[in-house]
Amino acid sequence: MTEKKFELTDLSSGKKSLLPVKSGTIGPDVIDIAHIARDHDVFSFDPGFGVTAATESKITYIDGDAGVLLYRGYPVEQLAEKSSFMEVSYLLLDGQLPSRAQLEKFTRDISRHTMINESLLRFFNGFHHNAHPMAMVSAVIASMSAFYHDSMDINNPRHREIFAHRVIAKLPTIAAAAHKHSLGQPFVYPRNDLSYCANLLHMFFAVPCEPYYVDPVAAEALDLLFILHADHEQNASTSTVRLAGSTGANPYAAISAGVSALWGPAHGGANEAVLNMLEQIGSVENIPKYVAMAKDKNSHFRLMGFGHRVYKNFDPRAKIIRAACYKVLEKLGTSNPLFELALRLEEIALKDDYFVERKLYPNVDFYSGVIYSALGIPRSMFTVMFAIARSVGWVAHWQEMIADPAFRIGRPRQLYTGATRRDYAEITKR
Ligand code: CMC
Repeated sequence: MTEKKFELTDLSSGKKSLLPVKSGTIGPDVIDIAHIARDHDVFSFDPGFGVTAATESKITYIDGDAGVLLYRGYPVEQLAEKSSFMEVSYLLLDGQLPSRAQLEKFTRDISRHTMINESLLRFFNGFHHNAHPMAMVSAVIASMSAFYHDSMDINNPRHREIFAHRVIAKLPTIAAAAHKHSLGQPFVYPRNDLSYCANLLHMFFAVPCEPYYVDPVAAEALDLLFILHADHEQNASTSTVRLAGSTGANPYAAISAGVSALWGPAHGGANEAVLNMLEQIGSVENIPKYVAMAKDKNSHFRLMGFGHRVYKNFDPRAKIIRAACYKVLEKLGTSNPLFELALRLEEIALKDDYFVERKLYPNVDFYSGVIYSALGIPRSMFTVMFAIARSVGWVAHWQEMIADPAFRIGRPRQLYTGATRRDYAEITKR
């Protein structure tokens, strides 16, 4: 088979070069442009990285046109139905589904790391009670680097493994501490006899003065959401973790950078923004007004939880979460008028030419808040929940990058449009 190449011709000089084309296991080929600066004295220009593959990766595959999401080759629908968050975490990190013994050992390793240093707990007292939990969580994660000097050699595979276990294990504890701080309640220590998600609910909702029973329906619902949020290839926060980590920065700093990137409403902050938006819309009669605002280019309003850079079809995760909303609300014996409103909004938007032409569908964040609310998780904590689940993806990508012998610092270039060279003028002459 002849090797595929792209020809690049500079029409002004007539200079030509052949660019190698690389193929993955599935998905579109990529043109290797590494030498265009050397051969043609040009850079590529792709603001927002819409068509740029920044790395090779074996972790997650998305076909945005078909609405397909695979973790290590396994369809997310199958994992959502049959797997658990711990098993999916093992899969993302290791590349293979674990045996029973491997899964038990991994789960035990994670649960052994759930406690956080007491000094870290005291950090929360420095925050005002109404601090956004994402601010507390990103700060405390970054500070973890100050506690583990003995195991932060990024070139040591065992150190990288311990780091992975610590981040995945301690994030729920840090999130719960942030929650308790905002409530003014005492911190609740982790319970290692509980599953990952049951322990999280216990730390969130238990109080010292009475027993707390974790509803298995709630733990199962949270586990499902965590599976669906665990990874999503080179999204903004994962790319942030890779970029920060590519400098050789300690991995806690890189994960903290990822938490900060996730916070924005165009990314993980959308789940909180969706419920705020639904509340603002208020009732079905107001939907057309808000849909019109979302279409109006003079308005900054967008339908939160709609649209995606990669999916130009239904986000498969949104479909699963929408179906889960019915089940979870029924099993918990609650209803949520905002869910009814979200369903109507989806129906109306999907019939509207503006959304049809631009292929804007509900994304993962459109319905997840309905389930979080049903579990009693406050709105400001929604993005923190996303961060806990995504920590696995961040760690898997960071590990993949550091273990790659060809890895080098991430350093994009630019198209400079500022002033050309000019001489400094003394202040009296300006
Ligand atoms: N409401 C109204 N118009 C929209 C929306 C929306 N939610 N999303 C995209 N558009 C329009 C946009 O104005 C543009 O129109 P035109 O071609 O006329 O200029 C067109 O659709 C293409 O949009 P884009 O901004 O070029 O697309 P993007 O790939 O840069 O942005 C996005 C993707 C997710 C940031 C964007 O769709 C958005 O802001 N959505 C709302 C926020 C949201 O739900 N974010 C969660 C994303 S999924 C989870 C995650 O990543 O964490």
